[in-house]
Amino acid sequence: MIQTDTNKSEAFALKGTICDCGPDRRLRFHENSYVVSDGGICRGVYDTLPDAYAGIAVRDCGSDLIIPGFTDLHLHAPQYTYCGTGMDLELLEWLSTYTFPEEAHYRDLDYAGKAYRIFVRDLKMSATTSAVIFATIHKESTLLLMDLLEKSGMRAYVGKVNMDRNGSPEYQEASASASARDTEDWILECNKRNYRTVRPILTPRFTPSCSDELMEMLGNLRRKYGLPVQSHLSENKAEIQWVKELCPDTANYGETYDRFGLFGGDIPQDHTEASGSRSGGMSDPEDRSEASGIKSGGMFDPAGGTCVMAHCVFSPDQEVDLMKRRGVFIAHCPESNMNVSTGIAPVRRYLDQGLHIGLGSDTAGSSHLEISYAMAEAIRASKVRHQLVDQTLAPLTLEDAFYMATRGGGAFFGKVGAFDKGYQFDAVILDDSRLETPRKQSLENRLERLIYLGDDREIKAKYVGGRLVF
Ligand code: GUN
Ligand code: FE
Repeated sequence: MIQTDTNKSEAFALKGTICDCGPDRRLRFHENSYVVSDGGICRGVYDTLPDAYAGIAVRDCGSDLIIPGFTDLHLHAPQYTYCGTGMDLELLEWLSTYTFPEEAHYRDLDYAGKAYRIFVRDLKMSATTSAVIFATIHKESTLLLMDLLEKSGMRAYVGKVNMDRNGSPEYQEASASASARDTEDWILECNKRNYRTVRPILTPRFTPSCSDELMEMLGNLRRKYGLPVQSHLSENKAEIQWVKELCPDTANYGETYDRFGLFGGDIPQDHTEASGSRSGGMSDPEDRSEASGIKSGGMFDPAGGTCVMAHCVFSPDQEVDLMKRRGVFIAHCPESNMNVSTGIAPVRRYLDQGLHIGLGSDTAGSSHLEISYAMAEAIRASKVRHQLVDQTLAPLTLEDAFYMATRGGGAFFGKVGAFDKGYQFDAVILDDSRLETPRKQSLENRLERLIYLGDDREIKAKYVGGRLVF
């Protein structure tokens, strides 16, 4: 049934070869079909336009592929400045040698403005429609990044990073309470700015960067404001050993977050000061009444994830069980895992066990912002793992990678990453004529070549929440 109570003037359709993944994780193609947007929400895919939508604007994309756009579940905006350099060190040395000195520069708003403008320009021109982003410890430059993302029209969670230990004199917050105070000020300022496409997310960098005292304060902020959490988990063997030494009374790394309520699970609804936060600002798009004072056409869905952890390369069984129970999302970042010498995550196992999983670029651990690159790397890495580590886990397929890049990661934002009715209307139009070949191509072949050979030259247009981004 088509809903008729929506604002028809906003409705439009894209016509072309529509491609997404179903709930069964299988690819779906609809040639010469229409996908309808109304009020920023997808109203379904049709062979012929239903009567209720007769006369709406139709953009004819010919034989171009129309996909829902990708979700990047984990990336560091400030690190984009040194992408493609500094690949000679393992994680912990890489952080202290390249990452912390670079992130310290974002105290300077001029520098932050220059760097974040380049980052947002490039992310905007990519096929990414939603992203979960680390900023730095600085509240002002984090707000600047959020302003730029809001202007770009992309959907993003952005986190002011928390670090009160094991940084450097230039790059560390003065104390747990100073870090928590700045974080609360930043949350309140986000609420005041009443962003449409951007939301705050709590961001303890990783356990070595955050004292127990700080973790406890962040757990309190999570309850008070109902915010989701992002961090790193079980990325590298030296890092995991360090966490064991820092937290000898925990059974696994995941527990170092869980004991402070920072590892998924429901967000308590008893918080009262959250106007513009998850319970206030992230209401169902269709429930966003005029009375709430929040602009209509909300881009965030309340059914989304509450915690995303990057990597999970070496998670023990107990930690995986805990992630499953708490509904923690995994951000698989295959290129970063190779570059900073961590390892290869058992993605097939996570998919088979029904964990929530998507892809992350993790710039500058990776040197590519494009999630299509992460898709190809995920497939390659899984083949190496299958050959060298564990032949019981089958390598990933194109379908698996596309699922993680769209529906799998998109679920962190709720109904995002597919063209099901009721999903957010996000779409990327891909023109593969530059990749011409005399060979007969199936639709799956065309998609695969776009993933492996394509770049931003193939992206003709991008829509997020029903609005044209470019
Ligand atoms: N662990 C803590 N901080 C970071 C970071 O910036 N990048 C990666 N890859 N891992 C981390
Ligand atoms: Fe990271």
